[in-house]
Amino acid sequence: MHSGIPISYFNDQYFGAYAPMLDARAAEEARFVISTFLKQGDIVLDAACGYGRHTAEFAQAGFRVIGVDASEVMTRLAKERTKDLHPQPEIFTEPLATFTASQPVDVCLLAFSVLGYGTQDEDHSLLEGLARNIRPGGVLLLEGKNPEVLQRITKDAPQTTGFETHWLEGDIWHMNQTIEYKSTELSMRLYTADSLTKLLEQSGFTVGDIYNGFSDKPFHTQTDGRYLVVATRK
Ligand SMILES: C[S@@+](CC[C@H](N)C(=O)[O-])C[C@H]1O[C@@H](n2cnc3c(N)ncnc32)[C@H](O)[C@@H]1O
Repeated sequence: MHSGIPISYFNDQYFGAYAPMLDARAAEEARFVISTFLKQGDIVLDAACGYGRHTAEFAQAGFRVIGVDASEVMTRLAKERTKDLHPQPEIFTEPLATFTASQPVDVCLLAFSVLGYGTQDEDHSLLEGLARNIRPGGVLLLEGKNPEVLQRITKDAPQTTGFETHWLEGDIWHMNQTIEYKSTELSMRLYTADSLTKLLEQSGFTVGDIYNGFSDKPFHTQTDGRYLVVATRK
């Protein structure tokens, strides 16, 4: 069964559990994006911006940034984080499938495994929503978890890391988390680089380079835990 991940999961508890780990790598991730994909004057869409860790880095580097997230808690935190920055990012609370920016952006970042929380049709609508907001020739950077290196983590041989026990069943990644004595069952669909390429091609993009996460190394599907797919808006 695919229970999914509801938007209500992205709350203050999520922030408390994940922010220390995510903050530690935000600056380096943003630096890679800026040096490899951005040029002066570009407008950046931080799609599913969460609490704004990348939004803040891009704004600090002088880029105009639009941050969008469906969780009110996350956008409140993102607004707090970026309130003193210039140029001040625009932050919106809205699902990506329906969001429309005031003008098309040059580069869009979808970071830290944002697909697969619901149905595949929902992922398709989300990507089509992003395509509508990226100018033709503009770029979507999609960073996510590679299921091909997780095949040995099964229901019978799960893995426990920190507050989470997880395993792969088909293309579904199951996570049982215990945070502050509260247990939550979550699951998400993981896309291989190939299956993601197909979905992106159906959603208005052409897939180009694939990197080993936020690094300049090429992605190898049998060994690398995360990918960063570069998709150009048709
Ligand atoms: C794992 S977090 C990643 C946040 C951020 N990109 C980062 O790297 O810190 C996923 C985020 O996606 C948001 N999200 C999930 N589905 C969404 C949707 N359909 N539209 C907009 N935001 C969504 C959640 O609220 C959450 O903040």
